[in-house]
Amino acid sequence: MKVLVIGGTGHIGSYLVPRLVLGGHDVTVVVRNPEPQYTDPRLAWPSATWVVADREAEEQTGAWGQRMDATDADVVIDLIAFTPEQNRTMMDAFEGRVQHFLHCGTLWAYGPSARTPYRECYPRRPVGSYGRMKVEIENELLARYRATGFPATIVHPGHISGRKWLPIDPQGTLNGVEIYRKLAAGEVVHLPKYGRETLHHVHGDDVAQLFELAMNQRERSLGESFSAVTPYAMSLIGCCEHVASLFGMTANLEFVDTDELEAVLGKSAAAATYEHIRHSPCSSIEKAIRLLGYHPRYTTEQIYTECIDYLLESGQLVL
Ligand SMILES: NC(=O)c1ccc[n+]([C@@H]2O[C@H](COP(=O)([O-])OP(=O)(O)OC[C@H]3O[C@@H](n4cnc5c(N)ncnc54)[C@H](OP(=O)(O)O)[C@@H]3O)[C@@H](O)[C@H]2O)c1
Repeated sequence: MKVLVIGGTGHIGSYLVPRLVLGGHDVTVVVRNPEPQYTDPRLAWPSATWVVADREAEEQTGAWGQRMDATDADVVIDLIAFTPEQNRTMMDAFEGRVQHFLHCGTLWAYGPSARTPYRECYPRRPVGSYGRMKVEIENELLARYRATGFPATIVHPGHISGRKWLPIDPQGTLNGVEIYRKLAAGEVVHLPKYGRETLHHVHGDDVAQLFELAMNQRERSLGESFSAVTPYAMSLIGCCEHVASLFGMTANLEFVDTDELEAVLGKSAAAATYEHIRHSPCSSIEKAIRLLGYHPRYTTEQIYTECIDYLLESGQLVL
């Protein structure tokens, strides 16, 4: 099939495009810089076709809509639509002439969970504009599916990670490698409150797996949303304990309130912690398993292990 991937060289696309190429598809990738960011460009990538275009710049002039109108594809995978307007342009361009349209959402569309693990059928209660716009996009895709049969599927990833992309760390931030050095050395790591808030990661290749499964089982995925996450969420304490155990250590944890955390981590890292703990995501993959046969290759522990292995190998983490 002719598959168009918009934004196909980042955390997801770096794994998705090789999967699609190896699956025998004719893959076209739209990006500004034709180079995968997280996988080797010599493997599978030579068979992909590049379209170099700046979506946002072209959206300003209307050239993007014209480009999409002129694009021939059986399947469209839009990884980088963040506003309903962007998505409407895509729906209008491909209505009635693609077999499948897959959109990338986010767990932030769900908002903080009342019930856990969160199932895709539960109410959406986003708490920020990013999540709210993704919900609008999801609602409009599903409304169009019901009204005209527009062939939509939505995939909502957790915190995306990969070998060369730091996971959200066990303090709920993306604050460099210092926390890993501290846990390896048995030094004190500060956690907010009781440290029982959760993170829900996913490896980029497992997000890619879910997109591929949804695409290959169109009749099971049309009009559906799926969470793309590891088999279980983990508490901040659990993440710290795992990382410390990799180095034969016990996590040396101190629990502080959010003001104290800001003094320790700095304002922007503490804001990231707060953003993660107020969501404390914990999602179910039961639907993806049942309908699509999704089997994530990575647990959160395995994601941290792979990433720390790369930090050591690349000399970014020095003990
Ligand atoms: N990252 C996360 O933890 C996370 C979690 C949940 C959901 N999501 C969702 O995942 C999606 C993003 O996927 P990702 O994490 O794989 O993205 P990413 O790593 O940020 O990569 C973005 C991709 O889009 C391309 N791109 C960016 N701006 C562009 C433009 N103006 N024109 C054309 N191409 C452009 C980039 O290539 P160039 O720079 O070369 O153009 C790259 O291929 C979003 O829908 C987001 O809401 C992400």
